[in-house]
Amino acid sequence: MASEKPIVVVTCTAPVNIAVVKYWGKRDEELILPINSSLSVTLHQDQLKTTTTAAISRDFTEDRIWLNGREEDMGHPRLQACLTEIRRLARKRRSDGHEDPLPLSLSYKVHVASENNFPTAAGLASSAAGYACLAYTLARVYGVDSDLSEVARRGSGSACRSLYGGFVEWQMGERPDGKDSVARQVAPESHWPELRVLILVVSAERKPMGSTAGMQTSVETSALLKFRAEALVPPRMAEMTRCIRERNFQAFGQLTMKDSNQFHATCLDTFPPISYLSDTSRRIIQLVHRFNAHHGQTKVAYTFDAGPNAVVFTLDDTVAEFVAAVSHSFPPESNGDKFLKGLPVEPVLLSDELKAALGMDPVPGSIRYIIATQVGPGPQVLDDPGAHLLGPDGLPKPAA
Ligand code: DP6
Repeated sequence: MASEKPIVVVTCTAPVNIAVVKYWGKRDEELILPINSSLSVTLHQDQLKTTTTAAISRDFTEDRIWLNGREEDMGHPRLQACLTEIRRLARKRRSDGHEDPLPLSLSYKVHVASENNFPTAAGLASSAAGYACLAYTLARVYGVDSDLSEVARRGSGSACRSLYGGFVEWQMGERPDGKDSVARQVAPESHWPELRVLILVVSAERKPMGSTAGMQTSVETSALLKFRAEALVPPRMAEMTRCIRERNFQAFGQLTMKDSNQFHATCLDTFPPISYLSDTSRRIIQLVHRFNAHHGQTKVAYTFDAGPNAVVFTLDDTVAEFVAAVSHSFPPESNGDKFLKGLPVEPVLLSDELKAALGMDPVPGSIRYIIATQVGPGPQVLDDPGAHLLGPDGLPKPAA
């Protein structure tokens, strides 16, 4: 029997986010409820995004998913949690008396295809964009228009912050059922147009321990993490929100670096200890502090997640000089990659004073490349049917 066209096909994109007040530790592993609130900056999808197509059809016999062209197991508990949750919301919507545009849709199986526009091998966290995109796309397919924090969060905690553009907080909430553990926009992407983000992709030596396992051990063993979550993060959330509202880069940058350092301190306080920073990460930290000391103010700020790559915040007037400082200290090795990707950056010469202030022996090749980007919007629906990753038969289109 020739299969009929899927009755609904939707394609959406979602962004990566980088936390400036870090989430680390769960109070409920199943519901993915955090021990502290967190705050992040949404990165622009021109440089980093996930694209996801979801389709439903009466012909599909099972739920299936393809990630970056490879079929994966839809039975994965976190994928199942997202699917179950979205179907529950769709059912609830119907029982609440909303007119259902797709009366049969709930009994139909879904096919999902998802891909990133950046190499997974770069070690950039892709689960946040991936699960946010899954939640957002499934919501469109099943006609759900309620808050999607829970759906995305059940995939990966940090994913709920990728549901919005600009500056986003994930309020930890208090309820045991997690209904108040939601993401909210603090300021839109247009709020701070001068803010720039440089991702310094470090040549990784080995794959670090994943966040899920890492934070579990931290919760079990680190008294510092407990103290941070209870006593330090609440005032820090308020302060970070204020820095962003006032567009105070110096205060924003300092707090961002301190929070990153504190997160990595809790990793060292974990037993057995976890270390995500590499020698190159530590050299980048030194470079940033020397660059700032030379200028007598905080002009650039780093933050690191559960891996060695640095994400650096700065303002548009400082990008060119800082990129020159990075290229000076970590000369590119011709490895086939373009050293600078993303937003264009004008080449400038470093002053001898700054070179002397950096005072570092160049380490060629330890930074593979830089991605220059900026603050960006939340998930988008793509209207062009040409953007669908699934063909009319509901299977992934062959790669172009
Ligand atoms: C260091 O959201 O990846 O990036 O909820 O277990 O999927 P799970 O963890 P995940 O953890 C992110 C940790 C972090 C900090 C952050 O993004 O806030």
